[in-house]
Amino acid sequence: MRIVVTGGAGCLGSHLVRVLLSRGDEVVVIDDFSSGTRRPVGDAELHELDLMHDGEALVNAFRGADAVVHFAARKSVEESVTRPTRYYRENIGTLANALTAARATDGAVFLFSSSAAVYGETAGGAIRETDPARPINPYGATKLAGEELTASAASAFRLRAASLRYFNAAGTGWADLADTGRTSLLPSAIERVRRAESPVIFGDDYPTPDGTGVRDYVHALDLAEAHVAVLDHLGESAVGHRVFNVGTGRGASVAEVIGLVGDAAGVRVTPTVAPRRGGDAAEVVADVSRITREVGWRSRFSLPDIVRSAWEATS
Ligand code: WQD
Repeated sequence: MRIVVTGGAGCLGSHLVRVLLSRGDEVVVIDDFSSGTRRPVGDAELHELDLMHDGEALVNAFRGADAVVHFAARKSVEESVTRPTRYYRENIGTLANALTAARATDGAVFLFSSSAAVYGETAGGAIRETDPARPINPYGATKLAGEELTASAASAFRLRAASLRYFNAAGTGWADLADTGRTSLLPSAIERVRRAESPVIFGDDYPTPDGTGVRDYVHALDLAEAHVAVLDHLGESAVGHRVFNVGTGRGASVAEVIGLVGDAAGVRVTPTVAPRRGGDAAEVVADVSRITREVGWRSRFSLPDIVRSAWEATS
């Protein structure tokens, strides 16, 4: 298949590009490299384009595509709280342009990179796609609005679409594709341990077993393979839009993750506890029964696998 990947030089996008190339797909990468990291995209056709303004070039790059996977977006929960208008403008604007360009394809498959952040505060326990989506930060709000836009465009442009609600993507399948962001828990904890400093826990007074935030950490390679499974599934489906959680179905606390970083480093780690961070929920864990039942995908990697892969990528 010919597959367009926007944001294909990002951490998650580049994982998907490498998996698609390895199975013989023809890949078109569109990226503006505004994140500052130029991850290798192998034999993919590369278009350095601004998804906000290069509309004509975007339509040409999409022409003839069998599928489009739209990763390109701002993704920091914390930054969205301090710079909301940037998130509204860029996350919705780039998606609108990608959907418009997808109109030039002949009934392509369209995957939208959504997020567990659409759920906001949860009652605890595994979250289903049918549970209420009440985002508590601008990042999550742009992802929920993006799902609505994708559903509407699927009907208007006759696309076979899905929105994938990523839980906490972490770890790496290859060292050269690792997450270089500093705000996420795992990269920031690893960086601090490597500098013999204490990792920071944002709040230990949450209603969770050890008081620290609980998330569902899913390996970046698992997440890429989930995209491939959904692409193949939608290739046999009718026009429409479907929402899938992408996670492991298992929660882990901030303290547990930091403990595993110490194990990977072979050192005893004593974290520092700071006040809660704005926009954070206590617990966000996926119910993954729908993607397992309908698509046949489930995660393969454990949390220790994830932490070890991230640690080794920085050695
Ligand atoms: C995880 C937990 C923090 C840093 C991320 C992405 C977002 C979306 C969902 C895909 C929280 C705590 C963090 C630190 C800490 N991904 N923490 N000390 O906020 O759940 O959102 O996944 O769509 O794009 O940002 O991830 O790694 O920032 O935080 O205690 O130094 O770790 O409070 O409980 P988050 P995160």
